[in-house]
Amino acid sequence: MSNPSNVPLPTSKDHQDQRERVAQGYGAIARAEPGLGGCCGPTSGSSDTSDVAALAQSLGYDQADLANLPEGANLGLSCGNPAAIARLHPGDVVLDLGSGAGFDALLIAPKVGPTGRVIGVDMTPDMLSRARRNLADFEARTGLSNVEFRLGEIEHLPLADRSVDVVISNCVLNLSPDKAAVWREIARVLRPGGRVAISDLVLLRPLPDSLRGRLELLVGCISGAAQADEHVAWAKAAGLEQVALTQKGDYVAAMLSVEDPLYKLMLAELPTGVSPSDCVASAEITARRPGAKTGCC
Ligand SMILES: C[S@@+](CC[C@H](N)C(=O)[O-])C[C@H]1O[C@@H](n2cnc3c(N)ncnc32)[C@H](O)[C@@H]1O
Repeated sequence: MSNPSNVPLPTSKDHQDQRERVAQGYGAIARAEPGLGGCCGPTSGSSDTSDVAALAQSLGYDQADLANLPEGANLGLSCGNPAAIARLHPGDVVLDLGSGAGFDALLIAPKVGPTGRVIGVDMTPDMLSRARRNLADFEARTGLSNVEFRLGEIEHLPLADRSVDVVISNCVLNLSPDKAAVWREIARVLRPGGRVAISDLVLLRPLPDSLRGRLELLVGCISGAAQADEHVAWAKAAGLEQVALTQKGDYVAAMLSVEDPLYKLMLAELPTGVSPSDCVASAEITARRPGAKTGCC
């Protein structure tokens, strides 16, 4: 790809540095250490279960489904509800990119049932440990054994080609230093006819320098976000079709209304008259791999 601006392109070391900073941030959250916070919620890493449940309900999660989750699976790190747009069926094999403590993976497991599977991939070892502890609790309560969590980077997925029916992700792609590679990996692991349902934050305009370099805004899912049209271009370049991105206005407004610390910081640093909702929005991205679905059902 050409580089008309002559800005130095990021190197693989830059990518690795970003992944390490993000993994440190989420390791701290998984160990429930106070400090950096994380994305996406009025809690910014707090362990107040009523706050995180309220955020999930505002994102459209069903209260009864949430009540069935192991305590600690919902860390308030979501910015959407990808399973709600994924049109899941019993028997589907679903991949959750950046599965965190297992929030969406464990909610999806009953929907795909014992003939389906859910595979969560996350690069942060402490987050993976937390997800596996939640999984043990979930299996004991439900009798289901159709979920697994794998350590891995979403830019180099530990899955075979054409092995999943649906890829979901909730507030993770913004954290990746190489989003084009993530889209190529999504296309690789999807079966023909397989579907994508992703929730993420997207940037509506560049952030000022004073905000762009701040670690808490990177870990907090804001400063690493891409622009909407970039996601569409990467998904199409990876060979996916029916690519659609819908911006949602309500999420950032909700963060502002609960005075989330990251959004307060943005308000303080942005020029007068510019709101965080002018800069960042939540979005739903859907796509499919061309071809007819093979196999049964
Ligand atoms: C904002 S949290 C979202 C967790 C979960 N999806 C949820 O909604 O609760 C981001 C998660 O993505 C993981 N992550 C970030 N970048 C990643 C990458 N490049 N590869 C794999 N996992 C990544 C982090 O470790 C963290 O658990």
